[in-house]
Amino acid sequence: MQHFEIVGGTRLKGAIDISGAKNAALPIMAATLLVEGETVLHNVPDLADVRQMQILLSRLGVKVHRDDEGAMHLRVEDEMNAHAEYELVSKMRASVCVMGPLLAKRQRAQVSMPGGCAIGDRPIDLHIRGLESLGADFELANGDVLLRAKKLMGTEIFLGGPFGSSVTATANVMMAATLAQGRTILESAACEPEIVDLAMFLNACGARITGFGTPRITVEGVGALNGTDHRVVPDRIEAGTFMIAGAITNGDVELRGARMEHLQAVTDRLRRVGVIIERGEKGIAVSSARRLEPVQATTQPYPGFPTDLQAQLMTLLCLADGNSMITEKIFPDRFLHVGELNRMGARIRKEGPTAIIEGVKKLVGAPVMASDLRASAALILAGLVAKGTTRVHRVYHIDRGYERIEEKLAGVGAVIRRQAE
Ligand code: UD1
Repeated sequence: MQHFEIVGGTRLKGAIDISGAKNAALPIMAATLLVEGETVLHNVPDLADVRQMQILLSRLGVKVHRDDEGAMHLRVEDEMNAHAEYELVSKMRASVCVMGPLLAKRQRAQVSMPGGCAIGDRPIDLHIRGLESLGADFELANGDVLLRAKKLMGTEIFLGGPFGSSVTATANVMMAATLAQGRTILESAACEPEIVDLAMFLNACGARITGFGTPRITVEGVGALNGTDHRVVPDRIEAGTFMIAGAITNGDVELRGARMEHLQAVTDRLRRVGVIIERGEKGIAVSSARRLEPVQATTQPYPGFPTDLQAQLMTLLCLADGNSMITEKIFPDRFLHVGELNRMGARIRKEGPTAIIEGVKKLVGAPVMASDLRASAALILAGLVAKGTTRVHRVYHIDRGYERIEEKLAGVGAVIRRQAE
């Protein structure tokens, strides 16, 4: 096992290239199950989750390889298998994204039911409900979701759940509907930029989807989808994490390729805190030179403040002049970082789905334990500013979703090393 050793206290300065979005690349890779011929994907980040999806797709008969320039080539060669097994799904929840494509293209999908994870219960009832509405028969057997349909039929589907829209349920149902007969209307669909990217990919393959980026998506079914070239959208969560890295170190960084329009809620909160954010020539410029103001923030589906940046914002607010409050409305239990940040001198109190963050003058380095992907990022941010040395253990969480994070941070002056335990 490896850990990161971080010596805090340097101001970050320079440019960081933003990678392709994990949460767009994974469903788009799964969508190639629907496609005839070769798909070429550019800007797919090199991440543990992406490699995991490659393994799953190859078990499902897809030939996947990267060329010398890093582009990913995918082609379905064998459609016999439609089973995503426990061993693979339990390692990565996004495996569930193969469900819609398998059902639509192979008339059946058997996908191991993903369990809960560190950030709480994560049901998939909306995925199943949506696919049933398209005409699939559903049963649960041996911990697997079994869906079957000779032909999917377009219909109207309400996809809202107790916490609002669902990103991967929208992806699954939208993908399945591309090959359904007739028109499907998805109400309360997720509006995330990753859903927009997926829809643009599918349309480039010949699908007829409109309304993506809004809560009502319309899909006119087509007979077949054909291979295309597609460039994955830049990762707004990686960009947001580095925005906070710039802010917390009183630094001056440019995030090359980051799209301001995908980060409006984040920019709004960070400006309130006192961070200077400008549209740069090649991306977003972030600097900060003074004490931070406290703020209130609530996570919400896009375009609201993303839950995937909640932990990182909390680290920043630990150093504000006064009390801040963050309410988590997507995953109310997603607070495992609180205890670890408190070990570094933070003063955070949790009350139900809300955390009250009392600003402190400084954080101090400590050994800490990463619990999930974004919580790990929050601990690295804390390490960048803490007095002394911080050791972040269980870095495999971070490797799931951040491409070469230590190289990118070291490139702008951070003192961070990956070490074997
Ligand atoms: C996606 C992202 C993840 C992000 C999350 C919320 C990917 C691969 N992952 O996860 O990084 O944190 O969106 O922005 O894109 N829910 C139900 N029933 C369902 C599905 C979801 O009740 O069938 C609930 C969830 O428990 C949660 C909320 O809906 O409270 C939103 O979850 P969802 O958007 O589905 O998250 P994921 O798509 O799994």
